[in-house]
Amino acid sequence: MAKVYNLFLSLCLVVVIPSLQANILENTTNVDQHIKMVDNKYWEERAAIARKMSEEAYFPNPHELSRNFSSTIAEHVAGSRHARRNLNGQRAGVACEATNNIDRCWRCDPNWADNRQKLVNCVQGFGRNTTGGKGGPIYIVTSPADNDMVNPKPGTLRHAVTRDGPLWIIFAHSMNIRLNQELMVSSNKTIDGRGVDIYITKGAGITLQYVNNVIIHGIKIHDIVPGTGGLIRDSENHYGFRTRSDGDGISIFGASNIWIDHVSMRKCSDGLIDAIMGSTAITISNSHFTDHNDVMLFGANDEHTIDKVMQITLVFNHFGKRLIQRMPRCRFGFVHVVNNDYTHWEMYAIGGSSHPTIISEGNRFVAPDNNNAKEVTKRVTTGDWKSWQWRSINDEFENGAFFVQSGPEMITKPFSSKDMITAKPGSYVQRLTSFAGSLKCRVGQPC
Ligand SMILES: *[C@@H]1O[C@H](CO)[C@@H](O)[C@H](O)[C@H]1NC(C)=O
Ligand SMILES: *[C@@H]1O[C@H](CO)[C@@H](O)[C@H](O)[C@H]1NC(C)=O
Ligand SMILES: *[C@@H]1O[C@H](CO)[C@@H](O)[C@H](O)[C@H]1NC(C)=O
Ligand SMILES: *[C@@H]1O[C@H](CO)[C@@H](O)[C@H](O)[C@H]1NC(C)=O
Repeated sequence: MAKVYNLFLSLCLVVVIPSLQANILENTTNVDQHIKMVDNKYWEERAAIARKMSEEAYFPNPHELSRNFSSTIAEHVAGSRHARRNLNGQRAGVACEATNNIDRCWRCDPNWADNRQKLVNCVQGFGRNTTGGKGGPIYIVTSPADNDMVNPKPGTLRHAVTRDGPLWIIFAHSMNIRLNQELMVSSNKTIDGRGVDIYITKGAGITLQYVNNVIIHGIKIHDIVPGTGGLIRDSENHYGFRTRSDGDGISIFGASNIWIDHVSMRKCSDGLIDAIMGSTAITISNSHFTDHNDVMLFGANDEHTIDKVMQITLVFNHFGKRLIQRMPRCRFGFVHVVNNDYTHWEMYAIGGSSHPTIISEGNRFVAPDNNNAKEVTKRVTTGDWKSWQWRSINDEFENGAFFVQSGPEMITKPFSSKDMITAKPGSYVQRLTSFAGSLKCRVGQPC
């Protein structure tokens, strides 16, 4: 989190300009001075728009909505009699094996490849209004190259994500993409890796900064390292100087309406997924995480009270082998952790500081053998945490795992069932998550 820490320092110096964050400011040289002056103004404007969108996407008084809470989502757990943990996708040529109702919404359609944009009907939870590139043309990435950060060539992923307007981005064939610098994705985009194997690996990661409405689906992200920084394009009409990136797999920075689904992630040099600086309306689902220390950070700093707007759903994910901690680590916001399978952690699973609200429902927690690491939860504070609302509802605990609850019991749900997904009991979780991670879908067959 070196970047955010630096940023926070710059925030202290420039309190009146809250948007001077991110790797926007640079160690100034005369040559760069002009770019920076122009750039700060650009990013201030972007930040102001993004903040407005985050505020619109967030419910300031969720309890107002609870009176009309009703469980309307039909739950289906079907086609799953033979479901099994399947890390590399699934058998080809078999009937639809969707085991949860996000997947059932699209995987059973043999013509999914002709109806790619129907995926947007499937998102649930706080990110449920995300439509990504819906309504826009299909953009087919044909080249894994990433050589030109300022004028990316047509046919490259960087060219696709920096176009204006909605785009549904797919890939002509399987490819390994090594990003030279962080990939600055603009608003209203879907990155859809279904039908091919897309690896983002051994280079920089994906940045969603001050953007709205992005879907990332069906790709694999691993061995991400920091980008050195430099001039990088972030939209059709703008590029600017950016400092070194952290090495997060996906960095969500002041962004809203984000859906990450069926992504496989491991080994990034910072977090796998960070959501910080007032990001909200996010669903992370059906994804598979392994081989990592600081898995997810929701809110980077105890001074960043803007993260009060953060509302995030984690659903149907598998937190797997060789993970250590932060699944997630939260500050301020509201995090609904529902029907995830936690099979490995070395230190703890869910933690936080600055009184976040964490509702853990219908998850399975399998503790490690180490007797000192059986506790699911970890509170990072020297003060009183008893009032923080951290509740466990119908979770399943194995191998001595236990969740230390605090704060008031959740009597009525503070959000509608559309935003707060209705959980199945924890005993269903292995089945619900048995296809977590990037899938192997074949065109013309149910996926
Ligand atoms: C800024 O540049 C100076 C001189 O090149 C260097 O010593 C210093 O470490 C740099 N600071 C940062 C934060 O990069
Ligand atoms: C989604 O959009 C609907 C309709 O505009 C709105 O009422 C609702 O608050 C939004 N939900 C979220 C989580 O953004
Ligand atoms: C609940 O729903 C009813 C009918 O749809 C509506 O009239 C009422 O205002 C709603 N109440 C709240 C608190 O949203
Ligand atoms: C994204 O799409 C929405 C809806 O079409 C539009 O209002 C908004 O301006 C778009 N955002 C950008 C940055 O183009």
